[in-house]
Amino acid sequence: MDDKKISVTELQEQLNKKQKVFILDVRPLDQRKEWQIAESTHLDAYERLNSGDNTVLDEITIPENTTVVTVCAAGKTSLIASKALRKNEINAYSLEGGMKAWNYAWNKAEITFVSGLKIIQVRRPSKGVLSYVIGSLNEAIVIDAALDPKIYQQLAKENGWTIKFVTDTHIHADYVSRTKELAMASGAKHLLIDKAVVEYSFTPISDKEIITVGNSKFRFLHTPGHTLESTTIKVDDDALITGDTLFIDGVGRPDLKANEGETIIKSKQLHNSLSMLFSLSNSLLVLPAHTSKAVYFDDILIGGTLSTVKEKLDLLKLSEKEFIKFTLSRIPPTPPNYLMIASLNKKGSHEEDVVLSDLEAGGNHCAIS
Ligand SMILES: [Fe+2]
Repeated sequence: MDDKKISVTELQEQLNKKQKVFILDVRPLDQRKEWQIAESTHLDAYERLNSGDNTVLDEITIPENTTVVTVCAAGKTSLIASKALRKNEINAYSLEGGMKAWNYAWNKAEITFVSGLKIIQVRRPSKGVLSYVIGSLNEAIVIDAALDPKIYQQLAKENGWTIKFVTDTHIHADYVSRTKELAMASGAKHLLIDKAVVEYSFTPISDKEIITVGNSKFRFLHTPGHTLESTTIKVDDDALITGDTLFIDGVGRPDLKANEGETIIKSKQLHNSLSMLFSLSNSLLVLPAHTSKAVYFDDILIGGTLSTVKEKLDLLKLSEKEFIKFTLSRIPPTPPNYLMIASLNKKGSHEEDVVLSDLEAGGNHCAIS
């Protein structure tokens, strides 16, 4: 932390330690709506700060004796704000790299079951992306790796686990998967459902096949709909890693890379997949690949039992015909970066000149609710 800026790692550490910090988001409202830091307060100050009018900052009440961190898209306007606050003797810092850099901040929450099975949910808070490190005895599997492989390797090490398998629940379109990179870094076996069409080699897993990690059983269930290869993984009789098939407050959009006819087919598949999942035990803990809201540094797992998810989601009570009609009417616009990200994930690598922080910037649009 120099005299003007604070890095992503430093702010992440402060939030993890529950230190008192006032995060002031000075971006325009439309950018704020797209994605944000859960703990932040918004002041639509972008235009006035950039036109030299710092009096806009008088509109916000800052709690006394609190460190302020100002945030914008890339860290320039926030620097104007922090400098102006400092002139008023407020201890203010600008978040280095802004939201683009904060995209790679992370936190975690975890749960341990009676059997000793432990699930660590690793979250990218502003984008709401969730990945999992799941261990039993001295082995682990990593699902939907979305961050630097070293983070997952470190978590495994801290728990005394060797990463035996890595996998993705589907070919993601909203972030660049780090699963292949993690497989190479850790030597873990890269599993994917045999329906997956990608341009790299992997170990195929068939529908309903079971793999063993420590003394836990992971059953791969083909649940097409959001994408054709979408997979849900049932972990013992404890949890369901649902990917983008089922969220806590919605279901996966069935349209990406599809024309209207294909979207109807995919909606139908999604309805069938959800019906199959709902025939499973109500006590299973649903753990999705996304959440629609920014994630707090609160150590609280994002998930819910299958029965609570069923209760909450009215669209799950619809007939197949009604469900298709509903999903078609609710599909949000495809973000411009989605198709590019999906094609990189299919390829399993990206060119050196692709700037991931630019490509992955922005919120998550995988859900329909
Ligand atoms: Fe997705």
